[in-house]
Amino acid sequence: MPNPVILTGDRTTGPLHIGHYAGSLRNRIRLQETHEQYLLLADTQALTDNASDVAKVRDAVLEVALDYLAVGIDPAKSTICLQSHLPALAELSMLYLNFVTVARLERNPTIKDEIRARGFGRDIPAGFLCYPAAQAADITAFRAGLVPVGADQAPLIEQTNEIVRRINAACGRPVLVEAEALIPEAGRLPGVDGRAKMSKSGGNAIRLSASADEISAAVRRMFTDPGHLRAEDPGRVEGNVVFDYLDAFEEDRAEVEALKARYRAGGLGDSVIKRRLEDILQALLAPIRARRAELARERGYVLDVLRAGTHKAQAVTRDTRNEVVTGLGLFRLCAPEMVAKEANPDAGGKDLFTHA
Ligand code: TRP
Repeated sequence: MPNPVILTGDRTTGPLHIGHYAGSLRNRIRLQETHEQYLLLADTQALTDNASDVAKVRDAVLEVALDYLAVGIDPAKSTICLQSHLPALAELSMLYLNFVTVARLERNPTIKDEIRARGFGRDIPAGFLCYPAAQAADITAFRAGLVPVGADQAPLIEQTNEIVRRINAACGRPVLVEAEALIPEAGRLPGVDGRAKMSKSGGNAIRLSASADEISAAVRRMFTDPGHLRAEDPGRVEGNVVFDYLDAFEEDRAEVEALKARYRAGGLGDSVIKRRLEDILQALLAPIRARRAELARERGYVLDVLRAGTHKAQAVTRDTRNEVVTGLGLFRLCAPEMVAKEANPDAGGKDLFTHA
């Protein structure tokens, strides 16, 4: 059996931070060596909770693409593609929505949590409520067998597989493949202030593009143990953000354990562990920042990468859409591959964006 196809992605709402690096980017850099991997710049999904700020969603596309390339996503090994330019995903979403109920969408734990966190109340954008079906379209359109996501996204994969089984039942044969979530062992990296979620909007993140001074400032204000007032006092390691970050970024595991033991016993000051962490983060981010700045000056190259990746993704996703349309047995006025051409005769059978 060949390795399964991988699909994962990010909502484009702003530049990525070191939480993304620890939780997913460095994993993707590894996986691209062994797997066919697609990375989706999920701009239409970003709209589901950012419709009032389309400019933010648009501008973040290039920011996230720069982050990918700067950390070492290799476009020769991973396919980077733009969701809004893959019409087959929208078409599959519409079909899938007929195979889920509103009640089931409302019961999805990810959706429930996010509705609460965003304070939507009853004013939930319909696109937001339905995004599990759209994400199922993303995953199945690429025939992904493996989907690396954070633990919070696991219910979306479960719901994807429910849709897969329903579509396959309706087709009378396995047109779609079920997917498995690949969840990182280490939990989510907390924000520098100690809040559970590091977020672009929360002001508690260290961006991959952070300057050396920004990194220093973030480490300086990092939450430790508020009860650890003097170096001689015993300190707490649990809930201490510096140690969470050392766990994530210090390769010398034995060294981290030794530091923890000394900190717990008393005699190790916050300034020492912060110094240590700062050195590690500066060394990690300096080459990423330099490469990112270089790429930002080569906008044409970055756009070429996105065009090529999106073009390839259009073909793959269109094939799956055709198989689903055929499999379901909808009335066929013309061959499924003609549907897009019919809708867009000017494009002469090519996809619109290639003419933009
Ligand atoms: N929902 C994911 C996130 O918020 C982004 C995403 C969109 C995604 N489509 C996907 C992830 C498909 C995995 C597979 O991070």
